Amino acid sequence: MKDGLVIAIDGPAGAGKTTISKALAKKLNYTYIDTGALYRGFALKALRDGVDIDDDVRVQKMCDEIDLCFREVGGELRLHLGGIDVSKQIREPVMSMKASDISARPIVRKALLGVQRELGKDGGVIFEGRDIGTVVFPDADLKFYLSASVKERARRRYMDFVGAGKRVDMDALINDISQRDKNDSSRKHAPLKQAKDAIYIDSTEYSIDEVVELMITEVNKKL
Ligand code: DC
Repeated sequence: MKDGLVIAIDGPAGAGKTTISKALAKKLNYTYIDTGALYRGFALKALRDGVDIDDDVRVQKMCDEIDLCFREVGGELRLHLGGIDVSKQIREPVMSMKASDISARPIVRKALLGVQRELGKDGGVIFEGRDIGTVVFPDADLKFYLSASVKERARRRYMDFVGAGKRVDMDALINDISQRDKNDSSRKHAPLKQAKDAIYIDSTEYSIDEVVELMITEVNKKL
């Protein structure tokens, strides 16, 4: 028996999905699942073990053996690899492209499909990702596709890094985001695209609160 909606929030990197999903989850008292973190966890494991992501045999072995899960720490779900909290390591700038690359491998997508569906089976969950509304939960109760201009997305990422005391180059960020958009939307398996029944929101001109309010209105219509 489902207790609450399954809400899908898809969109490209830097569109504000994380901040908005977290805020929405807090308002609704729902669980927030960052599916990108799972791909980042796989990328970290591959990097640590020197797995060539084009080598299907080794990638399959890694998928069979990986010990990756979310554990609740201080009221939030943090990603654990081999029992160790790797939430910080997976956020290193280099991990973004690695995750994008590994997420194009069908073996990896297949391994994570069941994991994500299991996490959503009881409802009351907000999933943030790229293919939630199209592949993982095609029957999600509510779907949003959140986007913003490349420049605005790069600016937001820049502010995040500066806030975390890291120096980054704005042009490099614009390049990285454009490249990841291309990677994620042009891959053959479960590419980033808007589900037909998703509500499109361009957050370029909106504040976080405005987007969350807009989403709450849609949630209330469903409830
Ligand atoms: O959301 P993120 O930037 O942490 O995601 C990292 C990469 O993982 C992203 O570039 C593409 C991939 N990804 C995916 O393919 N499907 C998802 N549902 C979530 C992320």
